[in-house]
Amino acid sequence: MDGNGRWARARGKARHAGHRAGVKAVRATVEAAAEKGVGYLTLFAFSSENWARPADEVSSLMSLFVEALRREVAELHRNNVKLRFVGALDQLSGGLQKKIAEAESKTAGNSGLFLNVAVAFGGRWDIVNAARSLASRAAAGDIDIASIDDEAFASGLQLADIPDPDLLIRTGGEQRISNFMLWNLAYAELWFTDVLWPEFDKAEFDKALAYFAGKQRRYGHTGEQVEAAEC
Ligand code: FPP
Repeated sequence: MDGNGRWARARGKARHAGHRAGVKAVRATVEAAAEKGVGYLTLFAFSSENWARPADEVSSLMSLFVEALRREVAELHRNNVKLRFVGALDQLSGGLQKKIAEAESKTAGNSGLFLNVAVAFGGRWDIVNAARSLASRAAAGDIDIASIDDEAFASGLQLADIPDPDLLIRTGGEQRISNFMLWNLAYAELWFTDVLWPEFDKAEFDKALAYFAGKQRRYGHTGEQVEAAEC
């Protein structure tokens, strides 16, 4: 969700105003995803590296997360959305952790859109954690090193219980992954748009879905193999 700061600057406003406007785009995107029958949506709200931003920006973002939870959870729950936060949640304030735990437990039984919010999250951090957990199980003799395969490794990642993303959307004009879900995005289609996050809306989401719909997923196979399997 990139481009909040530039959106604010272009309007002579403080960066925080861009993040506030970004919450509206989150709402529109979650609605669009639910309407389209998307099963899983993961939002990159705050990276491991974002801690290095000016202290006042970090603290206003954290306040915004608390406020968004206070305002939005009831509506998400009404719409059958299951909410979960992933990342180094122990780095967050006690108050925010509490709000997150409440939101997760309130929506845990919902069966609609599974909305994951990545906060204090980094793809490398996630991979290192998975490696550490496998290493300690191997050191304890609980697993055989030779048995470690893709599946065993992926089971230690934060988003192990949901399918890998089919589509990555990045707003704000940059064409990079910036330490998002490095493992899980291996076969994702990538959609980059110059639209700044606060201006991302249902129409933009539809453009990304249309791009995705035109893609043939080959996973290393030939196009002919894929077409034959589809018949
Ligand atoms: C990146 O844009 C955006 C962020 C670091 C914050 C994203 C947070 C929100 C959209 C707030 C709402 C989120 C939830 C889940 C309630 P940037 O600040 O790097 O923009 P710039 O590149 O234009 O400076």
